[in-house]
Amino acid sequence: MSSPGTGNTFDGSTATYAIVIIAAIIIKVVILVYVCRKRSQIQSSNNVCPDSQFLTLTMDKFLNDMEREKPIRFTSQQLRIATDNFTNLLGSGGFGAVYKGMFSNGTMVAVKVLYGSSDKRIEEQFMAEVSTIGRVHHFNLVRLYGFCFEQNLRALVYEYMENGSLDKFLFGEDKKLGFQQLRAIAVGTAKGIAYLHEECQHRIIHYDIKPGNVLLDAKFLPKVADFGLAKLCNRENTHVTMTGGRGTPGYAAPELWAPYAVTHKCDVYSFGMLLFEIIGKRRNFDSNLPESQEWFPKWVWKKVEAGNVVELLIVCGFEEMDKDMAERMMKTALWCVQYQQDSRPSMSIVVKMLEGALEIPTPPNPFATYLIGSNVVPNKNNGSTHTTWTDNSCDLESSSVVARSTLACATPVMRKYGIEMAST
Ligand SMILES: Nc1ncnc2c1ncn2[C@@H]1O[C@H](COP(=O)(O)OP(=O)(O)OP(=O)(O)O)[C@@H](O)[C@H]1O
Ligand SMILES: [Mg+2]
Repeated sequence: MSSPGTGNTFDGSTATYAIVIIAAIIIKVVILVYVCRKRSQIQSSNNVCPDSQFLTLTMDKFLNDMEREKPIRFTSQQLRIATDNFTNLLGSGGFGAVYKGMFSNGTMVAVKVLYGSSDKRIEEQFMAEVSTIGRVHHFNLVRLYGFCFEQNLRALVYEYMENGSLDKFLFGEDKKLGFQQLRAIAVGTAKGIAYLHEECQHRIIHYDIKPGNVLLDAKFLPKVADFGLAKLCNRENTHVTMTGGRGTPGYAAPELWAPYAVTHKCDVYSFGMLLFEIIGKRRNFDSNLPESQEWFPKWVWKKVEAGNVVELLIVCGFEEMDKDMAERMMKTALWCVQYQQDSRPSMSIVVKMLEGALEIPTPPNPFATYLIGSNVVPNKNNGSTHTTWTDNSCDLESSSVVARSTLACATPVMRKYGIEMAST
């Protein structure tokens, strides 16, 4: 036994500590030997694994890669197994059909099978874009786990969102979301877009903000889906819309269907349209309503202009305690849909407006230009009321991130973009 002042520091607690360390080392060595054996078994079977073994391996690697936040390359066979041969269709849109899937450890995924063929020539571009969007992480953005690029299948593998898309809760039978929940959804969505525009290493313009692309998790918290898809799928050719331009009619900014320069502010416009629908819990355009209420954004503008939003708030069913917030949301939406791109605030300003951290000036008429039908260039200020928003956003364009990987199984192109196979 040691006593103070004898200089002998090797007491009982030190011995216990040493034993714990030795035990930890032994356990590690045992695990290492086990893993090496397992690996050599797999290699000796010439890299062909039976399905069950293969799925376990997939999941180990999948979870490792998820932690390392890298996009993963899946084979069509892997996705076929995970989706039970693409049986559970969640829905479909302009880019493809989405199927529910599950990996062997219980991780749920949504697999979007993209329309069109897998042209070898676009493989590199595809991987460059996937590696960019697969590395974008934010609480309010749907996570892209990986992809498949084979001749017979081009697909994206996303995190699964339990409550599906917001449109169901705004326009469907199930209108159970209360105003506070909807407000939180608006703020979260704005934060997700602000991240894409202002905080990502490479600015990403979404081009298709709408209720169908806001997904809700088990707690109804929002995540923006499908960012980066326009570039990935070369939307101009693949996404046919009524306007012949990009985006979805009703949400697409005027500059998207006119030959004008397009900036990230087109997303601000679409967010404004989405915000109107959140406020009204109705589609912005509804021909079944009286003419004055047919187009909700215009109706809101008329009331705000007249300084008489009370009637509107009553018609929309707002409770007394929510009215100030609802009015704030209306003004924010009117700023977002300004015809001039420069007059629209950045998304970080929009977040502040919605959170009440900023005084919101009365917006100018966003629809004046539409009424006179002039050919005003939307990104130039033509003498209309103009507010300069203090804005820290950077001026980067969306482009590919080139990262390095030393994985032996990857092709040179995959290595270039830091993409790994789900199973080797
Ligand atoms: N990650 C996901 N988790 C759960 N459901 C999803 C997921 N992604 C998509 N969905 C469901 O699939 C439906 C179709 O999605 P999809 O993105 O193909 O179409 P969209 O959003 O209506 O149009 P767009 O092609 O313009 O994005 C969505 O409305 C949603 O219900
Ligand atoms: Mg979508």
